[in-house]
Amino acid sequence: MRLPKAGTIEVVPSILSADFARLADEIAEVTSAGVGMVHLDVMDGHFVPNITIGPPVIAKLRRVSDLVFDAHLMISEPAKYAEPFVKAGADHITFHIEVADDPRKLIDKLHELDCSAGICLNPETPVEAIADVAPLCEMVLVMTVRPGFGGQKFMPEAAKKIARIREIVGPDIRIEVDGGIDPQTALTVVSYGADTLVAGNAIFAKTDRIAAINAIRDACT
Ligand code: DX5
Ligand code: ZN
Repeated sequence: MRLPKAGTIEVVPSILSADFARLADEIAEVTSAGVGMVHLDVMDGHFVPNITIGPPVIAKLRRVSDLVFDAHLMISEPAKYAEPFVKAGADHITFHIEVADDPRKLIDKLHELDCSAGICLNPETPVEAIADVAPLCEMVLVMTVRPGFGGQKFMPEAAKKIARIREIVGPDIRIEVDGGIDPQTALTVVSYGADTLVAGNAIFAKTDRIAAINAIRDACT
């Protein structure tokens, strides 16, 4: 398993806002800013009203990048597709509690495949929904927008759940936040106990991506 140990702040660029015709170059650019991970948003047009990439694209990216691949599966049947995503090169797989038939079984399966496991909850999903399985994961993902699109406005009420999740999982499990992260909201979520900051628009909509990554880091360290 390759997920960095909990306790350090990681800024994780989401390629959803990158230029999909130049993905390798886009990933190389954020790599030069010293990030260790990249966030790959997988959407099926069913769980969310948008469609992005699948295992074939991830397999091609695997050949051009050594970053830790953080795959966020916004799909209705995560158990069915977990193995193809690991085989394609995902290092960490997050699935949504809202569509998990048997979350423990899927977490075990990911671990058997030597892949770290993440559980995600949507803004309207209560913390109780993940309380029993979150401690079995390497990372919990808190959505601070409704999943499906980049560039949406941060939802402060959803972020407040982070503090309770940190109490439940303790210091050794990462808490990742996804949606509307910029220097200001990054500081807010880190103060609640998050350490892993996904940012799409705040990085890839900027001409100077390295400065954009550093601005998020500087705001919360
Ligand atoms: C949204 C995705 C996010 C998205 C975040 O459904 O899961 O990863 O890229 O984009 P920003 O940072 O622009 O809100
Ligand atoms: Zn995401």
